[in-house]
Amino acid sequence: MERDLTLVTGGTGMTGSRIVQRLRARGEPVRVASRSSACRLDWDDPGSWDAALAGVTRLYLAYAPDLAVPGADRTVAAFTRRAAAAGVGRVVLLSGRGEPGAQRAERAVQAVADSAGLACTVLRCSWFAQNFSEGQFAPAVRAGELVLPVDGVVEPFLDADDVADAAVAALLDDGPGAVHELTGPRALTFADVVREIAAASGRPVTFRSVSLADFRVDLAAQGVPDDVLDLLAHLFTEVLDGRNARPTDGVQQLLGRPAGGLVDQVRRSAAAGAWS
Ligand SMILES: NC(=O)c1ccc[n+]([C@@H]2O[C@H](COP(=O)([O-])OP(=O)(O)OC[C@H]3O[C@@H](n4cnc5c(N)ncnc54)[C@H](OP(=O)(O)O)[C@@H]3O)[C@@H](O)[C@H]2O)c1
Repeated sequence: MERDLTLVTGGTGMTGSRIVQRLRARGEPVRVASRSSACRLDWDDPGSWDAALAGVTRLYLAYAPDLAVPGADRTVAAFTRRAAAAGVGRVVLLSGRGEPGAQRAERAVQAVADSAGLACTVLRCSWFAQNFSEGQFAPAVRAGELVLPVDGVVEPFLDADDVADAAVAALLDDGPGAVHELTGPRALTFADVVREIAAASGRPVTFRSVSLADFRVDLAAQGVPDDVLDLLAHLFTEVLDGRNARPTDGVQQLLGRPAGGLVDQVRRSAAAGAWS
């Protein structure tokens, strides 16, 4: 019998690359897709979508840069429609937590899935711990100072390895879809995280809080375009306004084990040389 083929969009990214690794370790056929992959897929080029979807039965849907970008809901809904037409029976959508753009995208994908008979699972995730070691904050941490327009707000940072385990469980499941709210076990401030990184890496790293206006001016002077500034402003105000401070037991519910803590993740990253 032919094995199911899983398409991992964002397959070179933080969660996608981990999912690909896990599926391959289980001997599952996987297709990696992104703008730079051998299988090229670009959200802004619908002409690239059908070749990526040919022969696929399971789909990991990770939209970049963010579901909060205007029009992202229409793009992911259109892609899900094409996926259904190509024979996909299960979609796992990576989403944010309590954020209007992500909620619009979830509703749009779910509506297509319902009408096309796809099982749809949504992973509503808090901010990833790996943002500091692999993602957008890593260069600043390596340079010794992280400057952000946040002050005392806390966030239950989530280990991207837990996201990948959750996504693989959802992709390989045979039951109906579900919504899972995934967070780390404990909420920390950004200053707390930087202190943990300094302790684990033995490097002098500090955190400084600035106003949103100063943050925008600094990044604009570094050549960051306006649409990216708007997205960052949205993430640091609406998403990080304290609404997501409460940790959930979503990882425990889905995987039957506790979520990984940020301090452990930071120690692993330091040992692997993330900030050297
Ligand atoms: N970081 C967080 O804390 C966090 C928390 C919750 C949810 N999320 C959500 O996670 C998603 C991002 O997933 P991730 O963090 O696993 O990935 P990521 O590390 O941000 O990497 C982005 C991935 O998408 C690909 N990509 C970028 N632009 C693309 C385009 N125009 N068309 C097709 N592929 C494109 C990239 O590869 P190429 O450059 O080769 O195209 C890469 O594989 C976003 O929707 C974000 O909202 C993030």
